[in-house]
Amino acid sequence: DKGQHRHFMAKEIHEQPSVIARALGAWISEDRTRVSCAAEAIDWRAVPRLTIVACGTAHYASHVAKVWIERVARLPVEIEIASEFRYREPPLPRGGVTMVVSQSGETADSLAALRYAKAMGQTTLGLVNVTTSTIAREADVALPIHAGPEIGVASTKAFTAMVLCLSALAVMIARQRGVIDAAGERARLDLLSTVPRLMAETIALEPQIEALAREISEAGDALFLGRGLMYPLALEGALKLKEITYMHAEGYAAGEIKHGPIALVDETTPVIALAPHDALFDKLASNMREVIGRKGRVAMIGDADACAEMSGEVWRSVTLPRADPLVAPFLYAVAVQFIAYHAALAKGTDVDQPRNLAKSVTVE
Ligand code: M6R
Repeated sequence: DKGQHRHFMAKEIHEQPSVIARALGAWISEDRTRVSCAAEAIDWRAVPRLTIVACGTAHYASHVAKVWIERVARLPVEIEIASEFRYREPPLPRGGVTMVVSQSGETADSLAALRYAKAMGQTTLGLVNVTTSTIAREADVALPIHAGPEIGVASTKAFTAMVLCLSALAVMIARQRGVIDAAGERARLDLLSTVPRLMAETIALEPQIEALAREISEAGDALFLGRGLMYPLALEGALKLKEITYMHAEGYAAGEIKHGPIALVDETTPVIALAPHDALFDKLASNMREVIGRKGRVAMIGDADACAEMSGEVWRSVTLPRADPLVAPFLYAVAVQFIAYHAALAKGTDVDQPRNLAKSVTVE
C-alpha cells in the first residue's frame, strides 16, 4: 500500500524518520541509556578487526559505518564488495568478526561471502531487514534493522536504517572496548536520537530539492562529490540516480577529481557537492572552486554556514539543517534520494521497477 504517495519509493523516503525512531527504540535499552543488541555476546576486546561484506547500497552504508566504528570504537574495519571478496578468498584475522549487511538477506554473493567467512572460522554477523532470510538464519548472530518491508527497487529506508543500526553497534563496541564510559554512551545515543527530527526537517525541503532535480534531469551526466562521511553518500547518490533515471552518474571522493574526473567538467554537467560545514569543508570548497574555474555547474547541498561561504559562486544550492558530522549522513541521504526520485519523475521513468533490475539479486 503506497498510502497517499505515487510510488513506493516516495513512501519509503518519507517513512524514514519513523523507521529510524523504531530501529533506535529496538537497539537501545528502555531507559535509552545503553545499546542493547545480540552482538553484545561477542567479546569485542578480543576482536582484532571487523570485516564488513555487502553489495550495492548496503556496501555504501557499510562505508559510512566504517567511519563511525573506527572513530567511535577505535576498531579497524575493512569493507569488501561481496562478489570480489568471495572469489579473492582473502586471509581473515584469527578471532576476527565478519558481518554481512543485506536488506533482503538473500543476495547470492553476500550469502557466499558469509559461508566463506564461516568456513574460515570467523564469528559471523548478519545485519538484515528480512529476519526470515537465509543470511539471518546462517549467521552466528542475526541483527535486524527494523526498516519494515521495502518494495521500491531503489533502496532508501534500508540504507538509513543500516547506518543507524551500525552506528548503535559502534557505540556498543566502544563501550565494551573501554573507549567510552556510560556518559559517553549516553551522549552518543542522544546524538542518534536527534536523527528522526533532523530527517523530518530535511524531508520538508522536498520542493527545493525537486526544483534542483528537475534541472539535473536535463543533463546527460552528473558527478557527485564528497569527502569523509560524504564520500559514500556521493557514491550512493550516483547509484540512485543511475538506477532510476538511467542517467550516467559517478560518485567521487572530491580529492580525486584532479586525478581524472575533472576532465568531464563542462558547462552542461551538474556537479553535486555534498558539503556540510565539517572539518573537511575547506578542502571541499577548493574542489568546488576548481570545478567552477572550469565553468562547471556546482549544485551544492550544504548547511547554512557552508552555503553562506559559497554563495555567489555556485550554480545552485540547497540548505539542509545543521547537524553533528556523525549525523549528517542521514540528512544527505534524504537529499540524494529526492534528487534521484524527482529527476526520474521529470524523465518519466519507472521509479519503483527500473529496467533490468530486481529487488533482490539471488543469482550472481
Ligand atoms: O538485499 P541487499 O541489501 O543485499 O541488496 C544489495 C543490492 O542489490 C541493493 O542495495 C541494490 O544496490 C539496490 N537496488 C540499490 O538501490
